[in-house]
Amino acid sequence: MKKYEEIKKLSFSKPLTRISEKTISIHYDKLYQGYVKKWQEIQEKLKEIDKSTSNATFSDLRELKLEEGFAADAILLHEAYFDVLGGNGNPEGDIVDAIAKDFGSFEAWREEFEASGLAARGWVVLAYDFNDGKLHNYIADLHNQGGVWGTSPILVLDVYEHAYFIDYGSDRKNYIEAFFQNLNWEAINKKFLKIVRK
Ligand SMILES: [Fe+2]
Repeated sequence: MKKYEEIKKLSFSKPLTRISEKTISIHYDKLYQGYVKKWQEIQEKLKEIDKSTSNATFSDLRELKLEEGFAADAILLHEAYFDVLGGNGNPEGDIVDAIAKDFGSFEAWREEFEASGLAARGWVVLAYDFNDGKLHNYIADLHNQGGVWGTSPILVLDVYEHAYFIDYGSDRKNYIEAFFQNLNWEAINKKFLKIVRK
């Protein structure tokens, strides 16, 4: 069971292949853990506020509820991103067949996923969509904007500049290649099987 107040440990040791220790430290130690702390702070504030002043233009409840969703999505997406790193990049498992089935071929999926990484301003998510029972590549420009209700993330790519600028400057394409080199397909497959309960 997910506990938003708990910091999830990294499943790999730093550095990764072609992604520096400094980048991961800033990303995991400061940014990710900062979202967990802010989520906790929001929960405390929610206990104290006056709900009788609730208003859709501005109210304490509105602001806190918006930021609660923002922080929760930031936590979930970052955990999903870190969860699939630390591997050797070799695709394996039922997930590979499922991707090929839903996208025509594994290569077609990868081409769309990588291109989506250049099109998105925040995230690319290979998700299982419970609505149609298929895999989709979805993009998001903010943690809490762009997701589709009823989907479950399987493979998540962070394309915010903090994920790559120290190592690659503005060369996001090169970072996406490094991301693929570090993918742990055993972990990705496990997540997929858990979601579809195979
Ligand atoms: Fe990030």
